[in-house]
Amino acid sequence: MMDKIKAKAVIGTNSWGGKAYGNLLRGSYVDDGIIKEAMTEADRQGLMIYDLARDYGLGKAQKMIGEFGTKDIILSAKYTPFGRYKKNCVRRSLEKDLADFRRSYIDIYWLHLPTDIEQHLAEMIGLYKEGRIHHIGVSNFDLNECMIAKNILDKEGIPLYGVQNHYSIISREWEKNGLLNWCRENDISFWAWAVLEEGMLTDPRIKRKFSLMGFIMQRQKRKMHELYRIMIAVAKRHDLTVPQVAEAFCASKGIVPICGCRKPEQVRQLAEAVDIRLTQGEIRRLEEAADNCNAKVLGHDMFRAFVPKKR
Ligand SMILES: NC(=O)c1ccc[n+]([C@@H]2O[C@H](COP(=O)([O-])OP(=O)(O)OC[C@H]3O[C@@H](n4cnc5c(N)ncnc54)[C@H](OP(=O)(O)O)[C@@H]3O)[C@@H](O)[C@H]2O)c1
Repeated sequence: MMDKIKAKAVIGTNSWGGKAYGNLLRGSYVDDGIIKEAMTEADRQGLMIYDLARDYGLGKAQKMIGEFGTKDIILSAKYTPFGRYKKNCVRRSLEKDLADFRRSYIDIYWLHLPTDIEQHLAEMIGLYKEGRIHHIGVSNFDLNECMIAKNILDKEGIPLYGVQNHYSIISREWEKNGLLNWCRENDISFWAWAVLEEGMLTDPRIKRKFSLMGFIMQRQKRKMHELYRIMIAVAKRHDLTVPQVAEAFCASKGIVPICGCRKPEQVRQLAEAVDIRLTQGEIRRLEEAADNCNAKVLGHDMFRAFVPKKR
């Protein structure tokens, strides 16, 4: 059994990739050279873990990282079950991933959705025993589904590495409904995706170019004045930026933030933020303001729509 990978923060790659994707969705295209510089900065900062999936960057992210070189980094990748289990589907998908990565194994492999859990995990267990997956995690699972996954793995003597779900200052359902505590009690890592809420938890005083995401967020951001006010005050107190407060908030709770980073400065900020611990008072004020603003975000269970109903 491999030693457990201790993650402080993870670099998300969802927005790496094509021009159309960057310009339309994020309001700017970041070319591959800058992303490569971001990887060099990550190396310098000791952030070695990259989170990927086949469809990230409209299919470009995995190929990019394979070209840049995956020798000295930790790869987190996923099997995404769009639809029901089909024999050998995980193996076939993993082979394509490994070709993209130009590697013979993946460090952490996640079942991306709680579809046909037993069958999908059975295949992942086979790949784990062959040494092609070093750790197994689950993503977008609720507490009951996590327990099912853990039981299946326990029977094989394989630890459930982690749970990767949506979590941020304004989306804390997995904490309120007990999943986060269960992870802590069972030494299972909790990785949070979209801790910056796709850019909504960045500095409202900095004007960004038009983007589809920005347009979608506009109405919600108008409800968040008080939360921004407190984030700015906390940022000042710790000499941080506003998005760093969202990152430090996670780190202060022992949650591993996955942040969409495309630029060296974003990587540097992430590395700095996860070493900061907010006080209980600061955390309480941020949570109260977040709950009171009632902003509608992506939703902790937004991918439920892709999980077929039980037969
Ligand atoms: N398991 C799952 O189902 C799942 C689902 C979704 C995402 N994920 C993972 O989670 C990762 C994070 O999600 P995400 O990339 O969608 O969104 P995110 O991290 O919540 O937000 C990304 C946005 O924040 C901005 N940003 C990042 N660092 C910043 C900084 N230091 N200062 C100011 N702005 C900053 C980016 O700006 P720019 O536009 O300027 O780069 C981008 O607009 C994904 O990349 C992916 O790896 C997993």
